[in-house]
Amino acid sequence: MIKEIEKLKKQKKAIILAHNYQKPEVQDIADFTGDSLELSRIAADNDADLILFCGVHFMAESAYILSPQKKVILPDLSAGCPMADMAEAVDVLNMKEKNPDAAVVTYINSSAEVKAASDICVTSANAVTIVNKLQNDTVLFIPDKNLANYVQRFTSKKIIPWKGFCPTHDRFTKEELIAIKQKYPEAYVIVHPECRPEIIDLADNVWSTGQMVKNINTIPHKQIIVGTEEGMLHKLKKIAPEKEFILASKGFMCPNMKKITLEKILKALQDEQPIVTVKEDTRIKAFMALQKMLELS
Ligand code: 13P
Ligand code: SF4
Repeated sequence: MIKEIEKLKKQKKAIILAHNYQKPEVQDIADFTGDSLELSRIAADNDADLILFCGVHFMAESAYILSPQKKVILPDLSAGCPMADMAEAVDVLNMKEKNPDAAVVTYINSSAEVKAASDICVTSANAVTIVNKLQNDTVLFIPDKNLANYVQRFTSKKIIPWKGFCPTHDRFTKEELIAIKQKYPEAYVIVHPECRPEIIDLADNVWSTGQMVKNINTIPHKQIIVGTEEGMLHKLKKIAPEKEFILASKGFMCPNMKKITLEKILKALQDEQPIVTVKEDTRIKAFMALQKMLELS
């Protein structure tokens, strides 16, 4: 199956992008793995004819928004992000009307329509930097309340959080973290900013998945407790094989990320579908919000 995927990839001038939460075997056949920011940069700037995206729907949609001349394929269209579904464009526009002086800052984990209603997008890797670069003193932060509260720690601007959250990160409790810290008292704790504020308070560092990869070898500790989706451990073990990684909770599993399989990748490459597209007027507006993000980060 892997050989056949490789063959079709060359034949069709395709690249395979995989998020850091993908299954190990999917990460291993990808041309690039990374966080949302790294993958959107690659999607915006490569010379492939076809992008096969191993991730969730908003990621493939962002790739299409940035590279509409390419065919963008998501091997399972039902791989969505429940947090992205927690914001609708009509509600965002209403909120914007009520707060005319605020900048609408939208996490990349959102639909194309919501991006189109926003001033700028962010990812977990650049949210703090971008918010601080904006002229506005007030920011409507959509859809993740946990990332919004995390950004609020590093800015004097007023952040108005939306009510969304990631079910995979938000269900991790302080009690669970205290228990795992007691079990591994020597371990260093890293978590994703989609975790709740009380988790952020107890962690040694808070990183996007790409920042975890970049910084892991700067941690002197041998044992590291990882508070994010389990797929991350495969990537971290590859780049720091001498360390011991401990998943902070069994609950850290995103069922949508796990919908992509080698079988579905092979079929998607053979059929060149299912494709992901966005209506052109929406795409142009969403493109501006994503493009501003890439310029400022
Ligand atoms: P990263 O951009 O840190 O990879 O996060 C994406 C995501 O979906 C986290 O749940
Ligand atoms: Fe969405 Fe959370 Fe899954 Fe990331 S881990 S794709 S934010 S549900």
